[in-house]
Amino acid sequence: MREFENILVTGGAGFIGSNFIRYLFKSAGFAGRIINFDKLTYAGNPESLEDVREEFGLRYVFEQGDICDSARVTETLVNHQVDAIVHFAAESHVDRSILGPSEFIQTNIMGTFTLLEAARSFWRQRQDVLFHHVSTDEVYGSLGATGFFVETTAYDPRSPYSASKAASDHLVSAYFHTYHLPVTKSNCSNNYGPFHFPEKLIPLMIQKIQRKEPLPVYGDGSNVRDWLYVVDHAEAIWAIITTGRLGETYNVGGENEWRNLKLVEVLCDTVAEATHRPKEETRRLITFVKDRPGHDQRYAIDCSKIKSELGWKPRTSFEEGLKKTVAWYLDNSIWTERVTSGTYRTWIEKNYHGR
Ligand code: NAD
Ligand code: TYD
Repeated sequence: MREFENILVTGGAGFIGSNFIRYLFKSAGFAGRIINFDKLTYAGNPESLEDVREEFGLRYVFEQGDICDSARVTETLVNHQVDAIVHFAAESHVDRSILGPSEFIQTNIMGTFTLLEAARSFWRQRQDVLFHHVSTDEVYGSLGATGFFVETTAYDPRSPYSASKAASDHLVSAYFHTYHLPVTKSNCSNNYGPFHFPEKLIPLMIQKIQRKEPLPVYGDGSNVRDWLYVVDHAEAIWAIITTGRLGETYNVGGENEWRNLKLVEVLCDTVAEATHRPKEETRRLITFVKDRPGHDQRYAIDCSKIKSELGWKPRTSFEEGLKKTVAWYLDNSIWTERVTSGTYRTWIEKNYHGR
């Protein structure tokens, strides 16, 4: 089992990164320090880790910075003697990538390249270090009614977001083969859970049901996604960085496929139950809207490799995960209000007027 002292988590103020940091300190028994390196874009909220900061004091360090800023990245690696990088930082929303791809190319491709270069020069052929790249199943493209993505499925990205993640995956592999940088990669399906920015399907719908606003279902709602509880994803990444084989990719999924429309109906019912409202009232909010351009039909992950090699499996049932998630959003509407004010609100009003 690999052990690390100082882990640099990029994008740790975002959804999955913040859950990962909390998981490492509170559940994985990690004994070292975590340096959370985050630019704090609209999607980054250091307050998501307030409990960790209070409880773990000096073992948790926050550094505001841009992964595209080579000097700042190098300085952080040196100052904190980083021996592992877990790279989450990215522009992560497909709809935004369609409206404005430029930031996606910059952060997801150039940012990953900058990090890889900094790691290569700081670590100088050390083999007791690790660069882990957190990626998505969307790099594999879109499935029809049957079949699953496996690690050897050919890349076929279709949105600027997935194309930028595919490019960064390829760069990480290239650094392994060319420079022998110790790397691992994971390609995961759609996550859900607490601290998820309410622009993505599940938190957006919960927020809109609470506010009694129309629920925008793209197209006919027949698109399928495979949903994984975010803490299960954190556990998978920990298994990979400590015991995964170097140079390997592991697919991570929830074995939990849902059509969007059905999922939104279940969310309507779950929120109705939790808030003692009639189910018909919440379901009536469902509104079909214009489809997303190039909308991938179906994603589904075959995660037998990580199951058989590393003994990981998705633990949280969808029923349990959704209940926890809905309860969290109902209890934390101040968080949701706060993160969706300011720059995010200005942007959404400009680009999604009337949605
Ligand atoms: P998120 O949008 O919630 O968080 C991204 C974080 O990265 C934010 O804190 C943001 O401030 C930070 N960031 C953005 N640009 C930066 C830059 N240039 N320099 C430093 N920090 C920067 O994203 P997420 O949903 O937590 O996703 C994290 C990673 O997991 C991404 O790489 C994403 O592609 C991948 N992923 C996400 C999902 C999912 O369902 N959300 C599924 C599979 C893989
Ligand atoms: P999203 O959460 O944006 O994740 P991704 O596009 O990365 O899978 O969307 C999940 C699915 O929900 C996707 O098929 C698009 C659909 N969707 C809607 O129907 N309405 C919405 O308002 C959003 C944000 C997504």
